[in-house]
Amino acid sequence: SERVSVSVLPQELLLRVFRFLGPEDLCRCGQVCSVWDQVSKTGSLWRHLYPVRWARGDYYSGPPGESDQDPDEDWVKSLQDEGRAYQEWDEDADVDESEACEESPAISAVQREKRLLNGIVQNLLPAVGPSVRSLSLAYSSAVSSKMVRQILSLCPNLTHLDLTQTDVSDSAFDSWAEFGACRTLERLDLSGCDRITDRTLKILSLGLGDLTTSSPDRRAKLLRAPPSPINFQDECSLPPMGRSCHDLIFKRRPGGRGSGCGPAHVWALNPSKLADIEDAADWSKRGGVSVQEKGRGDSSCCCRRSRRRSFRTGVSSSPWQYGSMGEALCGHSTCCTSDVALWTVREAHGDLQATRGSVEFRTKCSFEGESCPEHPHNRTDQSGAYRALRFLSLSGCYQITDLGLRCLSQRGGLPLLVHLNLSGCLFITGAGLQELVTVCPSLNIEHFYYCDNINGPHADKASGCQNLQCGFRACCRSGE
Ligand code: FES
Repeated sequence: SERVSVSVLPQELLLRVFRFLGPEDLCRCGQVCSVWDQVSKTGSLWRHLYPVRWARGDYYSGPPGESDQDPDEDWVKSLQDEGRAYQEWDEDADVDESEACEESPAISAVQREKRLLNGIVQNLLPAVGPSVRSLSLAYSSAVSSKMVRQILSLCPNLTHLDLTQTDVSDSAFDSWAEFGACRTLERLDLSGCDRITDRTLKILSLGLGDLTTSSPDRRAKLLRAPPSPINFQDECSLPPMGRSCHDLIFKRRPGGRGSGCGPAHVWALNPSKLADIEDAADWSKRGGVSVQEKGRGDSSCCCRRSRRRSFRTGVSSSPWQYGSMGEALCGHSTCCTSDVALWTVREAHGDLQATRGSVEFRTKCSFEGESCPEHPHNRTDQSGAYRALRFLSLSGCYQITDLGLRCLSQRGGLPLLVHLNLSGCLFITGAGLQELVTVCPSLNIEHFYYCDNINGPHADKASGCQNLQCGFRACCRSGE
């Protein structure tokens, strides 16, 4: 009988076969030939990315599980142990990397994860980024703010983003400010990201769009209909039906991929900007201008009182040194008028740029998108604004203030938000919470968490702070 080579399989059949494969096997297939590489980079094969799990041999690639499921404790602990080992090793610049790998499985696991993440960013996402719907980097020790920024710029249609307990800062979300692309986001988990400040919430709110510009009818319609993905090329186009990769190997245009599966956005590194240098995002943390000098708040302000509270945070030994608003501006709705508050945020941001002198601040654009002549934010299609966020966790993001909550309240609020975790957010107040809750009509009070010491909305039914027993996230009652 006639022998038939797999290379004559039509591409649509090849794609069907590939649907049964996991990420590891797909990557192997992609190395067979250029056509298999092309088919293996079909967007629909890469909807859900779990690089942290994949780097440890768990190749699950289905949709995310139940939103409120706690991750396995042993799994979390082993990732945290690996992260600590890697951090200690990484701080010693003279260490021989290959020796460390042989000696420590923990370090080699994080190194593997880092290589995997780099490979995904450089080789996979430029082709499939617009098709990616969910991404979990929870408990990753390898991911940096820069990497997240690149990923978000390549994946504009994410619905689920989990950055739990990573070391990312506000700069990770600059690509949202740049491209206005988090319109489809439904779930955002920033638990334990204690470098996040109000700036991230401002960017998030801008990226989610503005419902207030829609008519009531249109607004109701938007809330009923699911958000449509941003219309970038969704998948690598397959060659014409019925043609095999054997045909195509010899008929492809020289030098061209011929599939049109280019990236929606290419992240172009700019060597003249400190922004594109790894760890530049740490600038403000490691000796950046303290906004504390910008002005002194009322000495009776509750922020000052809060300063005496003790809480644990595993990252910064002196959170006050870098506090987002700190003593300069508490951000509390009851302490600051809106004009003063917003003025101070802009000024603090400008001040950072000016004081830095020859060192240029990393961000591509400031907060106020609409008023920025250089980087207009009107790239977000306002008619497609949806504000579809259903789950938001800022547990342990202790630098968040009422200003950040106000940003979320504006532009139509969060009409679909069901779950809101603000445990460990020490500087928010009952008034700030009230302002936000008022524009979250879908909020499930049992899934609403905030500091036990705040007299906020639904105090009798809300679930209180979750961080007291946690041990590694900010909580004003840690140590009790
Ligand atoms: Fe106050 Fe946890 S932040 S009880």
